[in-house]
Amino acid sequence: MINIILSGCMGKMGRVVTRIVSEDEDCSIVAGVDINTAENEEYKIYASPSDIEEKGDVIIDFSHPDCLEGILNYAVDKKIPAVICTTGLSQAQKGMILEASKKVPVFFSANMSVGVNLIIELACRAAKLLEGSFDIEIIEKHHNQKIDAPSGTALAIADAISETLTNPSEYTYDRHSVRKKRSDAEIGIHAVRGGTIVGEHTVMFAGCDEIIEINHSARSKEIFAVGAVKAAKFIVSKDSGLYDMKQLVNSIC
Ligand SMILES: NC(=O)c1ccc[n+]([C@@H]2O[C@H](COP(=O)([O-])OP(=O)(O)OC[C@H]3O[C@@H](n4cnc5c(N)ncnc54)[C@H](O)[C@@H]3O)[C@@H](O)[C@H]2O)c1
Repeated sequence: MINIILSGCMGKMGRVVTRIVSEDEDCSIVAGVDINTAENEEYKIYASPSDIEEKGDVIIDFSHPDCLEGILNYAVDKKIPAVICTTGLSQAQKGMILEASKKVPVFFSANMSVGVNLIIELACRAAKLLEGSFDIEIIEKHHNQKIDAPSGTALAIADAISETLTNPSEYTYDRHSVRKKRSDAEIGIHAVRGGTIVGEHTVMFAGCDEIIEINHSARSKEIFAVGAVKAAKFIVSKDSGLYDMKQLVNSIC
């Protein structure tokens, strides 16, 4: 039995993880962390990781970037792995993840869906083949409550493509602020916000007289929760280090 501590347990994702884990006989949630410490029948909720009394084997985080430092400190202090799913992290915070991963296993992925990780792979293959003759634009769409933009997944797709290309690329987020033609090196990244859209990502390769699009559409948040629990099971017995969805997918295939 894997004992999970769930950070952001009262949020939208926290509630889905709680339901997924309740249906999983291999793991259970022993404590939650959230600024909203409302009564909860399933497990006790603490305002800060430092207050947690129960012993966990792994901590899963779907909360807010402000919580990251406390969660990583807790994981390092208790010598337990951490699965960080929160997005909108700064470069300095990504540096904190790297530092913590030298001491405990840390799993970090901007998108916990297996499907999204597959389109990243496909987009990289397309980018390699089409380099120089097609313009690359990434369009992401999310619900009207999402705070960060562009999505962590859009940036992860751009980063993976950028690492694949021979020539260095530059990201363009806002065509409104500068009036000039796009350069060949650009990867355009665009955010759309509205309604209850769970998460859509399109990688467009626009060439001369032809357009190729690779799409992923998430129909529910469950895919991310399932991925997070899979990640927790994957790293619980690993050595310290930084792990991601690509490694998890490769470990299955
Ligand atoms: N990696 C992925 O695949 C993936 C998928 C979905 C969501 N996310 C990310 O997970 C995060 C949470 O998403 P959500 O939709 O559940 O958001 P949400 O706003 O519904 O939930 C966030 C929860 O964190 C709590 N919280 C906020 N600040 C806090 C603080 N300082 N201390 C303690 N608790 C705090 C809130 O009370 C809330 O319950 C976001 O960053 C989102 O982008 C990642």
